[in-house]
Amino acid sequence: MDKIVIHGGAPLRGEVALSGSKNAALPILMASLLTDEPVFIRNVPRLRDVHTALALLGRLGVESRWTDEHALELRAASIASHEAPYDLVKTMRASFIVLGPLIARAGRARVSTPGGCAIGARPVNLHISGIRALGARIQLRNGYVEARADRLTGARLWLDTPSVGATENIMMAAALARGRTLIENAAREPEVQDLALMLNAMGARIIGAGSHVMEIEGVERLHGAEHTVIPDRIEAGSLMVAAAITGGDVLVRGAPVEQLKAVVAKLEEVGADIEPIADGLRVSRKGAIRPVELRTLPYPGFPTDLQAQMMALLVISQGTSVITETIFENRFMHALELIRMGADIVMKGPTAVIRGVPKLSGAPVMATDLRASMSLVIAGLAAEGTTEISRVYHLDRGYEELDRKLASLGARIERVKESSAA
Ligand code: UD1
Repeated sequence: MDKIVIHGGAPLRGEVALSGSKNAALPILMASLLTDEPVFIRNVPRLRDVHTALALLGRLGVESRWTDEHALELRAASIASHEAPYDLVKTMRASFIVLGPLIARAGRARVSTPGGCAIGARPVNLHISGIRALGARIQLRNGYVEARADRLTGARLWLDTPSVGATENIMMAAALARGRTLIENAAREPEVQDLALMLNAMGARIIGAGSHVMEIEGVERLHGAEHTVIPDRIEAGSLMVAAAITGGDVLVRGAPVEQLKAVVAKLEEVGADIEPIADGLRVSRKGAIRPVELRTLPYPGFPTDLQAQMMALLVISQGTSVITETIFENRFMHALELIRMGADIVMKGPTAVIRGVPKLSGAPVMATDLRASMSLVIAGLAAEGTTEISRVYHLDRGYEELDRKLASLGARIERVKESSAA
């Protein structure tokens, strides 16, 4: 198993390019199940989660091949299996999003429930009630959701929480339903919008993606299409925080400025200088790191997927910051590792109080989930001495060539083989 070793203190400087968005690519790959024609998807990041998605789609009957470094051709000429097994769903929760396309295309699906994970309970009740409202008969048996339907029928739905995954699952099911579906309190995340673009390119009739109310006029069939995945706003935000914490000067090429408004505002409040350029954002910091209050929210609010990274930055601010995590109930695992590096953080329920310390010191730390791992990398970049991060497979789930990208910006970072398994 690999680990990442960082010798902290080097300011990041230079230019870096973003990969395609993981969270947009995954549901878009699943959308290939909705048609028997080939689909072509560009700007797909080469990540562990993408390989997991392709393995699952392969079991369901989707043939896929890389036609270029980041381009995929997929074809689900027929559905070979209706089952998403536990071993794949437990490694990647987004696997649950095959439920909607499978039931819509094949009238049957058996998908393992994902269970909780390191960041919280993460139930799938909204996915299930949404697809049930479209007329599917759903049973929960032996840890699996078993769904059947002849043809789904459009319905009017209200989501208690604007869940990204539930919105995507329901959108894909509704795309082939008879009649009109209205999803109220839908997730507005850019990744949901990107999926809607892909589905519309396949012949779906979806309007309102990106707003609270989405309308989907079901069609008889969908056809092949081409699509380019949007850049990864979470990777962009992570690199911006890394630039800020090291007092560097980094040009993040392709950073989606519109989608990063909440992040830019918060980083400016912290003391970073952010300049929009023709094709992205330039992030630098010369002055002190100022404390802030931060609350994670559904899009367009500050993303929960950047909360851990911001915490690493605030740890060395000149004052006391408060972070409130409103999306997931257990998303402070990284705080315990940051404390091992010298941070002063007190957590109570969804709130973390971070009292700034003058510096962090390198330590052996353990990644617990994808974004938590990134916060440890960010802390390591600024820490005095050497930080060794184990369990980097978490990072490889969602950051493409992170060590290479950071090294190209001047970070002293290397990936080494761990002698014994963690
Ligand atoms: C997606 C992202 C993840 C991000 C999250 C929130 C992907 C592959 N993952 O995850 O990186 O952190 O959005 O922006 O896109 N909930 C329910 N019932 C449900 C579904 C969700 O109560 O049926 C709750 C969850 O427990 C959570 C909240 O809704 O508290 C938001 O979760 P959701 O938006 O569904 O996250 P994911 O789609 O799993």
